[in-house]
Amino acid sequence: MKNEFSSSTVGWLAGALLAATLLGCSKPPPAPPKAPPTPEEKSKNTISKTAFGTLPDGTAVDLFTMVNANGMEVRATNYGGIITALLVPDSTGKTTDVVLGLKSFDDYAKNPPYFGAIIGRYGNRIAKGQFKIDDQTYKLPKNDGPNTLHGGLRGFDKVVWQAEPFEKEDSVGVIFTYTSKDGEEGFPGNLQTRVTYTLTDKNELSFDYHATTDKPTVVNLTQHSYFNLAGDGNGDVLGHEVTIYANEYTPVNKLLIPTGKIVSVTDTPFDFRNKVKLGDRVNADNEQIKFGKGIDHNFVLKKKQPGLTLAARVSEPTTRRVMEVHTTEPGVQFYTGNFLDDTLAAKAGKPYAKHSGFCLETQHYPDSPNQSEFPSTVLRPGEEYNSKTVYTFSVR
Ligand code: GLA
Repeated sequence: MKNEFSSSTVGWLAGALLAATLLGCSKPPPAPPKAPPTPEEKSKNTISKTAFGTLPDGTAVDLFTMVNANGMEVRATNYGGIITALLVPDSTGKTTDVVLGLKSFDDYAKNPPYFGAIIGRYGNRIAKGQFKIDDQTYKLPKNDGPNTLHGGLRGFDKVVWQAEPFEKEDSVGVIFTYTSKDGEEGFPGNLQTRVTYTLTDKNELSFDYHATTDKPTVVNLTQHSYFNLAGDGNGDVLGHEVTIYANEYTPVNKLLIPTGKIVSVTDTPFDFRNKVKLGDRVNADNEQIKFGKGIDHNFVLKKKQPGLTLAARVSEPTTRRVMEVHTTEPGVQFYTGNFLDDTLAAKAGKPYAKHSGFCLETQHYPDSPNQSEFPSTVLRPGEEYNSKTVYTFSVR
């Protein structure tokens, strides 16, 4: 039954009050003078810096803690740009760390799985540790059998970056810069590199990559965070549900070098176009899965236009956390933590077993410097390398 009496009574009272106010019978109390907003009120996104460790040569390394207006927190060091923690709120606002990591700075100084790091100058593999530009051959250190992986022996994950923190009204972040010298790890050209980490108050963590060179070179930068959306140390990620917006992938040989073919995912374990439980795929009876000891493959993203494209969506059914990846890159390496083997000093306490985390490394395709059919990774003097990737976190 409708309570007409009370609603019309309220309406009448409100009307009378408005009339009285307009006639000046009752003056509202004057509003207290407003103090100008403090810098903290203007920007609820904050950043702070603490000492993180010292390298054997005495170089001090810092840790930056960024917190956004929702309490989402990113900790990143200027050693390799490594993200050591990423605290994401659930539907009740409670935060949980969703990235894998190590116990101490000394552990990160080695960091064999590349936890959380910037990868460069060339992310992923270059076959036989060599490539040619303009008929000149360049030789690189081999650190993955006969091949070069993730920039060589001392890639961008193992160097100290200059760091410039910033705080804005809707975001907070750090600009990391590094000049990789001509000949460093065998690559030609002085490469001026800038990677900007930004945490927005929309729970986005973005990476803006920029580079220029003074000699023709190859560049393929990415980020190597390992995620467990159920929370770091909470077992494996095989219950995660994954969608990858790719019609094709690049099959590999047994050393994980692409064969050069670009193959449809249809009727293969690499068809993630509709949500798939990871556990249903990582042990599939398939030669490619055997080569990778799980999934460790580059997916060719469906790109309709330049700019950011949705590459992948991962959700975790028990916590209902969702992570989306948008990128300007043509590919993403989906790696299911196949080489994790219980040997590392995990920050969560329990050792990380195989499949404790997954990586979505946005990038150009592996071994592009030797694969003429793949989009080029050559950067020449006067050109700019620009790339952007955004990880967005939400709760379903
Ligand atoms: C990438 C590679 C993997 C492995 C990891 C680091 O994802 O594709 O094969 O090297 O990095 O362990």
